Amino acid sequence: HINTPMESDPFELIKDKIVSVSESIKTILGSDHPVLEAVAKYFFENDGGKKIRPTMILLLSQAAEAARDVDNTDKSIEYISASQQRLAEITEMIHTASLLHDDVIDEADTRRGMKSVNKVFGSKLSILAGDFLLARSSICLARLRSLEAVELMSTAIEHLVKGEVMQMRHADKNGQITPFEYYLRKNYYKTGSLMANSCRAALVLGEHSSEVCELGFAYGRHLGLAFQLIDDVLDYKGENTGKPMLADLKAGLATAPVLLAQEEFPVLKDLVARKFSNSGDIELAAELVEKSVGLQKSKDLAIIQAELAILAILQYPPSPARDALVKLAQLVVTRSK
Ligand code: FPP
Ligand code: MG
Ligand code: MG
Repeated sequence: HINTPMESDPFELIKDKIVSVSESIKTILGSDHPVLEAVAKYFFENDGGKKIRPTMILLLSQAAEAARDVDNTDKSIEYISASQQRLAEITEMIHTASLLHDDVIDEADTRRGMKSVNKVFGSKLSILAGDFLLARSSICLARLRSLEAVELMSTAIEHLVKGEVMQMRHADKNGQITPFEYYLRKNYYKTGSLMANSCRAALVLGEHSSEVCELGFAYGRHLGLAFQLIDDVLDYKGENTGKPMLADLKAGLATAPVLLAQEEFPVLKDLVARKFSNSGDIELAAELVEKSVGLQKSKDLAIIQAELAILAILQYPPSPARDALVKLAQLVVTRSK
């Protein structure tokens, strides 16, 4: 599926709606806290983000309409579509909140090609701005009047935290699961869950059948897993990610490329175990990973996840939005930033 040529550009198809998402977020963040507002808006104003989550949610909401049984809801399509757009905004705000906290934890200098919020405003305000975003997004979520959506999005927030904590700890020492399995689970919590659960929440707001909701959840989950695998590959390659390079190794993190290079270069196991802490470890690990099949294998796994996302969404009836979701999954694995 991955090589099927597709006409529809996912970003083009919903360009106007994405502009409206950005505008709306700025309004939501308008506040009586000028400092928090300034910090939070710093992120959205410069607009360097990929907006992959809102794009996914809006396209999915559109694609699901083709699968709707006539008269299965009393709500108007306009009402449903407005609430789904709000959910896209909420998801982007939660994601951004997690990045504000993440850049503090990672002590990052750059984000989206510019100085990170923690570097410009300091760590304390970065954390508070993240909390502010979470609070505002929670109010918006409550106003959608869907307990199920609240539950799904709260679960995703819990998973963001859980994934981050998993990442700080060593892989399961009791040997119940392999380090690679631990890494994949962490990826689900860190990245897959917000994408999967926000997709489901959008479809729940649309009052779609459980089958349509399930397929949307699967699409978001696989897209998220593909996205994170590529993110981890780009950490080794990325010249234009707008983020620091080799940040994972420098933080002592073993992601897919190095985990999958260990068999070929067993010395990497020692480096992973000591979190690349000796001098020269980072350079040696980067060099060996580059020589190994680790990067290609990681990319192959990302392609498999993208294919699974595509398989799920192809079970929806044909529509331009569905084609755009196929294209989006292809773009996620071919992206270079
Ligand atoms: C980016 O990962 C970070 C995440 C996907 C999640 C971070 C989650 C938290 C800090 C928990 C707190 C959550 C909330 C909602 C406040 P990365 O550091 O691997 O990626 P990067 O290269 O983009 O920095
Ligand atoms: Mg980070
Ligand atoms: Mg991080």
